[in-house]
Amino acid sequence: MSTPAAPRVNGLCFGGDYNPEQWPEHVWAEDVALMREAGVTLVSLGIFSWAWLEPAEGRYEFGWLDRIMDLLHEGGIKVDLATATAAPPPWFSLRYPESLPVDANGVRLIWGSRQAYCPSSVAYREGAKRLTRALAERYARHPALAMWHVNNEYACHVAFCYCDASAAAFRVWLRARYGDLDKLNEAWGTAFWSQRYTDWAEVMPPRATPTWHNPTQVLDFKRFSSDALLELFTAERDILHSVAPGTPVTTNFMTGGGFDKLDYWAWAREIPLISTDHYVIGVSPQTPAEQIAFSADFTRGLAGGAPWLLMEHSPGAVNWQPVNLAREPGRMLRDALGHVARGSDGVMFFQWRASRAGAEKWHAGMVPHAGIDTPHWREVVGLGEALRNLAPVAGCTVTADLAIVLDFDSIWAQEAPPQPSRLMTAFAEIRRWHAAAWRLGATIDVVSPGSDLSRYRAVLVPSLYLLADGGVGALESYVEDGGTLVVGPYAAAVDEHDHVALHRLNRLLGHRLLEFAPLLEGQTVSLSGGYTGHTWAESRETVDAATEIIASFADGPASGRPAMTRRGGVWWLGTRLAEPSLESFLTGVFAQAGISVYDGPGTTGVERVIRQSADGSAYLFLLNHGDDPTAVDAQGVDLLTGATFTGHLAAGGVAVIRLTAEEKN
Ligand code: GLA
Repeated sequence: MSTPAAPRVNGLCFGGDYNPEQWPEHVWAEDVALMREAGVTLVSLGIFSWAWLEPAEGRYEFGWLDRIMDLLHEGGIKVDLATATAAPPPWFSLRYPESLPVDANGVRLIWGSRQAYCPSSVAYREGAKRLTRALAERYARHPALAMWHVNNEYACHVAFCYCDASAAAFRVWLRARYGDLDKLNEAWGTAFWSQRYTDWAEVMPPRATPTWHNPTQVLDFKRFSSDALLELFTAERDILHSVAPGTPVTTNFMTGGGFDKLDYWAWAREIPLISTDHYVIGVSPQTPAEQIAFSADFTRGLAGGAPWLLMEHSPGAVNWQPVNLAREPGRMLRDALGHVARGSDGVMFFQWRASRAGAEKWHAGMVPHAGIDTPHWREVVGLGEALRNLAPVAGCTVTADLAIVLDFDSIWAQEAPPQPSRLMTAFAEIRRWHAAAWRLGATIDVVSPGSDLSRYRAVLVPSLYLLADGGVGALESYVEDGGTLVVGPYAAAVDEHDHVALHRLNRLLGHRLLEFAPLLEGQTVSLSGGYTGHTWAESRETVDAATEIIASFADGPASGRPAMTRRGGVWWLGTRLAEPSLESFLTGVFAQAGISVYDGPGTTGVERVIRQSADGSAYLFLLNHGDDPTAVDAQGVDLLTGATFTGHLAAGGVAVIRLTAEEKN
C-alpha cells in the first residue's frame, strides 16, 4: 500500500480527541490558544459528530467544521479528521431500525448510547460510506488535514450481532470458507448432539441455546464477525484513498486491556497507519508500567516493527472502571514516554477538554474541569515541551531479539467453554509472561504465529491451545534453524477447527500426553528444583532419549511426571509457574539463548529501551518506576533537558539520552 504510514506532522504528535461541538463557539478560540500554549500539534476531530454533520438524511452541515478546521489551521494545529461513523444519530436508527444490533437473546439494542449498528447492516454501511465520501470530498485538500481516522475503536461495545441480516452474511462467509455443507458438518463436528445441517437456512449465529454451543460454530462466528467489521473499515478506507490519495488512514485499536474481539493481525494488514488506545487498569495483576509496555510492544508488532501512534490514553482518571483512580502527580510524562520509548511517534489523549455533560463527564481531559491554574495543566504543558525536545526520535525503531506469540484464533477457541479448566485463560497468561520478561530487562516483540520468527533468538509461546497444521511446521523450521522455543502448558491441543489433535508437537518436545490434570483455584504443585506451579498440570511420558527432564512434578495429580523439559532448543512447561519460578525459569532460558537483557526494572526499577534511526542515531529511554532516586550508568546528552546526563534519575524520573557511537556497540 503506497499510503504513508506516518501522520503529516513534524516531530512527534501531541494532542487528543477534540469535541468542539460540546462547547459554544466562543470557547473554540480559547481552545486553540491553550493548545498552542501546551504545544499541541494534532487533534482528532469529529469522531462522534455524525448527528452534527448530517442532521437529516443527505443534508450536510459542514459550516461549523469548516470554521474549526480553519481556526486550527491558523493556530498551526493539524487534524486527524474522523469519518464520524462511530455513532449513527437517532434519526438514522429510527429510519433504519434494521441497522440496530441484536444480541444473542434476540434483544435489539437501541440508540441513546453509541456504536448502535450491526456489522452486516447494508443501511449502516451505505450511510457510513456516504458520510465518508462527503467528508473526504470537502476536506481532502484542507491544509490542516494530517490523516484520516476511520470510525472509532471498532467492536469496543458491539462485536457481534445475531440478527437475520447477520445470519445471512454469516452463511455467505461460511459458504466461501467451506464450499458445501458436508465440509461444514465435518469442520463443526456436527455428528455430535444431532447437529447435522442439511440446508444452509438451518445454519445460525450462536444465538441463545439451552446449553453449550458447538465450539467450532462459535469460533467461526468470531472469525466472521471480525471480518465483517473489517469490511466496514476497508470500505471507508478505500473511499478515502480514492478521494484523498496519499493521506494516511488509521483506525484506533485497543491493545491494552485484553480486548480480543477482532483479529488485529488480519486488521493490521489493511491499515496503513497503526494506532492504538491504551488505558491503565487500576486493579490489575500488572503494574501500570507493565501494562503500558505490553500494549506498546503489541502495537509495534501490529505495525510490523514500524513506528505507530498512541491515539488515546487518559490524562488522569478514566470514567469506566469501578473505581477510577487519579494518576499520581508527575506520572503523566513517564507513562507517555513508556509508549514513545516503544515506538509511538506521538502522545494523544482522550480528550482535550473534560466534558460538562454526557456519559464521560467524569473522564479526565487535558484541560480539566478545575481549569488551567492546576498542577494537571502544568503537567500537560510540560509534556508538550518534552515531546518537542524529543522530535529527533520520530521515525526511530526498536529492535528485539525475543518474541512472544499471541494468536486470536487460539485465544477465541481456548476461552470458549467448556474447557478442561475455566482457569486456563489465554490472553492474561500471555500478558503475565510478557510482564515477567519485561521485569527481567528483555526487549520483547509481540508477534503472530505466522510471522517471520527467524530474526529472534528466542520465541515464547505461553498459551497456544489452537495451532493450525501449518503452524507446526513453522515452529519446527524455526527450531531447526537454531531458534530457542519455549512452549507453555496445554499447547497445540487442537487444530484450526478446534478438533482434538494432541500429538503434533511430540516430535519437537520429545514426549507425549497421557492426561490433562487441572488444579483447583488456589491449589499449587511443587516441582523438583524448587519451582512452584498452579492452575494446571499434565501427565506426559518421554518418547525421545534426547529429552532432558529439567524438573518433575513432586506432588499433585501428575506427581513424578515431567514438568519442565528441554530437547535441544525447545523448552516446555507442564504447569503455570508461579511468579518467582517463572522469572527464574526465563532467566535460565535467556542465558542459554543469548537474549540481551539489562538489569531490569524488576530489580532496579529502571526501564531501558533504545530507539534507533536508519542513519544510526540511537536514543536510550530511561524510566525510573521506582520510589527511590537511582544511579544509572549511561552517558550522553539528555534530549529532555539539553544537558549532559548526570547519571542520576530521580524517583519516577525520566531521561532520553542520545547515545554516542561507542555506547551503541
Ligand atoms: C475509548 C473511546 C473514547 C472514550 C475513551 C474513554 O478509548 O475511544 O471515545 O470513550 O475510551 O476512556
